[in-house]
Amino acid sequence: MEKSADTKKEVKYYTPDPSYRQNSWIGDYGRAYSEFEKDPEAFWAKIAEKLHWFSGWERVREWNFPHAKWFVNGKTNITYNCLDRHLLGERRNKVALIWKGETGEEERVFTYRQLYREVNRFANGLKKLGVVKGDRVCIYMPVIPEQVIAMLACARIGAVHSVVFGGYGASALNQRIVGAGAKIVITADMAVRRGKSTPLKHVIEEAIINAPTVEHLIVLRRELGRPVEIHGEMEIDFYELCKDVSYDCPAEVMDAEDTLFILYTSGTTGTPKGIVHTVGGYMVGVYYTTKYIFDLKESDVYWCTADPGWITGHSYVVYGPLSVGGTILISENTPDYPDPGIWWKMIEEYGVSILYTAPTAIRMFMKLGRDWPDKYNLGSLRILGSVGEPLNPEAFEWFYEVIGKKRCPIVDTWWQTETGMHMITTVLGEPMRPGFAGKSIPGVVADVVDKDGKPVEPGRSGFLVIKEPWPSMMRTVYNNEERYRRYWEMIPGCYMVGDLAIKETDGNIMVIGRSDDLIIVSGHNIGTAEVESALVSHKAVAEAAVIGKPDPLKGNTIKAFVTLRVGHPASDKLKNELIYHVRITLGPIAMPSEIEFADSLPKTRSGKIVRRVLKAREMGVDPGDISTLDE
Ligand code: WT7
Repeated sequence: MEKSADTKKEVKYYTPDPSYRQNSWIGDYGRAYSEFEKDPEAFWAKIAEKLHWFSGWERVREWNFPHAKWFVNGKTNITYNCLDRHLLGERRNKVALIWKGETGEEERVFTYRQLYREVNRFANGLKKLGVVKGDRVCIYMPVIPEQVIAMLACARIGAVHSVVFGGYGASALNQRIVGAGAKIVITADMAVRRGKSTPLKHVIEEAIINAPTVEHLIVLRRELGRPVEIHGEMEIDFYELCKDVSYDCPAEVMDAEDTLFILYTSGTTGTPKGIVHTVGGYMVGVYYTTKYIFDLKESDVYWCTADPGWITGHSYVVYGPLSVGGTILISENTPDYPDPGIWWKMIEEYGVSILYTAPTAIRMFMKLGRDWPDKYNLGSLRILGSVGEPLNPEAFEWFYEVIGKKRCPIVDTWWQTETGMHMITTVLGEPMRPGFAGKSIPGVVADVVDKDGKPVEPGRSGFLVIKEPWPSMMRTVYNNEERYRRYWEMIPGCYMVGDLAIKETDGNIMVIGRSDDLIIVSGHNIGTAEVESALVSHKAVAEAAVIGKPDPLKGNTIKAFVTLRVGHPASDKLKNELIYHVRITLGPIAMPSEIEFADSLPKTRSGKIVRRVLKAREMGVDPGDISTLDE
């Protein structure tokens, strides 16, 4: 540990052993960053050249504000780089994927060759159903190997996947299926959670009632008790579909700018945004960051605890690590089942060397005490990662000491669904400042500015922005070009992230939180408007306003203020009914933990509910400017 002086206060830095920098892929941060600054296009071209292209690009970048094209006219397929490329060399029989069931007993292992065969076979199955390049396919599955196989199979044939997290309820799922116009939905009969199987198929059945584009439902029947029934022409068994098809499916030749996937993320309005990522730029971005930020090496065992259904899983469970040729671990587990030692047990058992997780999990383990991790040998770990929300200094220190044994650097990676890849962190070997995500990685130009785009003084809060296009940036919001433009038009010339941040004199950036109406609960982004519209869809509710309340464990919990319609008296029973109503409409992650009945809600004269006033009152702080409030 090192102490150095900042403007006002004493600052604590943690400096990793110099060997980390010496042996890392990225080497010296300052040198790497200036190489990028000198010639951004040459910087990215050098990375892209490491990957396989059926034919090369004509230009690295074409920037027509706010639209970028990367690797213009280059032809490739991301699965060729995640699979085929490794079969030619020594990785042929290397373990690509290890899946572990939730109790730690069940295990499935795939070498690169085996994974390649499974993906090809399922891709041929999809083709048999008439799926062609450009078709949208919705994947709604628990964390099992087939979830990854389904994603890769879509990418193999150029179908656009839209993965929906398995914890979402029927209405959220319906919205996403309809939004993407999915032709096929892939699901499993069951998910397993805390020793119980929860049926998934009926959620889909409900979700596709008003989804006319859906032609087929592919159901993976896990051998968990009695198999669900498959009905009629529309439904097909996952492995039945794979019968009698070849294990050979050549990778579709994709243009760099063809769509790879759509991923829905909650917005400030009631409708989620379909973030669109394309093949070439996304591939280069996740390959680069997995290799250079996580320093993924041939002998690493890499475990990212996110569900592949979120962007973290897309980029850093599936596409990034496989494109680099890593060994990845996935698990359907809950961090405290069957006991809070399960993660540490898995790390010991598999010799996990890179662990990527979220502050909410770290804080939960912190609360449960160090006895659990101390029971296991965590000596294989060499790098720790965090993502999803600010890693507060207490959690940083606990993670650093108890899990990393003061040995392992922590990469606190700031990024978003929209950015596709890591944007800000402390590069391996650099001094880490707890509470701060770090600096722009080489390839990225982030800054903290005021509403006119002028940099704010060190130590003061402003808007976090990105000033230059980058390869894995979203290309548009699906069917909503106007929404896409808004990201770039709010602050002159910049991509507006939507977070508030502070940049200190040492250049480190602290991300404070969302400046718009998102609540991050246990690492999941919940749109206030989504929860409000779910509440309002209940017959007793007139209006609803939702706020996030800081919570030591979950980051935030959801509190809803509700006004009732006449004839519906307030009662505890009604509170429970409303919570349940949100649960079945949006899923358990969006459930309010508290409901307060109110006579009215604070509104502007134009009728917009001012949530910040409710929040200020709840937290006992000054509500700020209330001059625009009605009465
Ligand atoms: C928002 C993006 C990127 C994968 C996870 C969530 C917050 C993310 C950090 C971090 C502070 C963070 C931001 C961001 N966030 N990482 N390291 N420090 N805040 O992706 O659902 O698109 O959410 O998560 O508020 O804007 P997402």
